[in-house]
Amino acid sequence: MINSSRLKILYRIIRNPDKNTINKLIFFIHEFIVYLFYGSPKKIHEFKISENLLKKLISWEIETKDIEFANNLKIKSLIYNHEDNTKKNERKLYKKKLLKIKPQMPLTLQRLLHNEVRKKIKLKVKSPFFIVNTRSWITNPLKDFEYGPTKMHRDGFWPGHLKVMIYLTPLNNEYGKLEIKNYGVITNRDIGHAILFLNSDLLHKAIPGNSKERISIEITIMRSLLNHNQTHIGHSDARHFSNIFFPYFEKFKTLFNK
Ligand SMILES: [Fe+2]
Repeated sequence: MINSSRLKILYRIIRNPDKNTINKLIFFIHEFIVYLFYGSPKKIHEFKISENLLKKLISWEIETKDIEFANNLKIKSLIYNHEDNTKKNERKLYKKKLLKIKPQMPLTLQRLLHNEVRKKIKLKVKSPFFIVNTRSWITNPLKDFEYGPTKMHRDGFWPGHLKVMIYLTPLNNEYGKLEIKNYGVITNRDIGHAILFLNSDLLHKAIPGNSKERISIEITIMRSLLNHNQTHIGHSDARHFSNIFFPYFEKFKTLFNK
């Protein structure tokens, strides 16, 4: 629970407060309460999605193959990547070179995916959790390309978050891989492979394929005191909630509406 990277975050928050300071601190305290009840999550867990779900995801992937960029409407309660606008042009260029963002999958398919993933990771996450966001993209084959997600990094999400990566292509030299520091390069895995990991604690990088596109789906989750599903269709640039109370509020709304 308390490790050097979290202490560094806490130190930075106290030393250099900004407009998000109080919110970050509340996320930290919230995760500490979850930890007291349920303990720490497993740092990395590999699993496979079912053949049936894989088939459905692949047919959705084929149907939406020609759509290059998702049309996203920003959702108020979320924090997004690069809101500071620094290096905007550089990022645009790298994105164009490296990625094709997929449109959001239909809600029915997303719900099937979430239900299965929830079942497969709940014992590893240890606590209940909110599903925060889901997005999908294609990584172009680019040898030795190191920028953004293909450079060793931590995601820097506020405390309590984990990511689940699901691959609709195999993980190998041809299609691409994932590397997590002190765990190794995740390669020679079949299509439908999935990895749950602490994305803001562990250094990691995506490795593009030598010759083929890598297709990924990413689900962000947040440990909490109650389970709740994703509250929106998903956004290709979203990180996590901007306010810890929002998902609880949404959860209570569904309970009272029953
Ligand atoms: Fe990352």
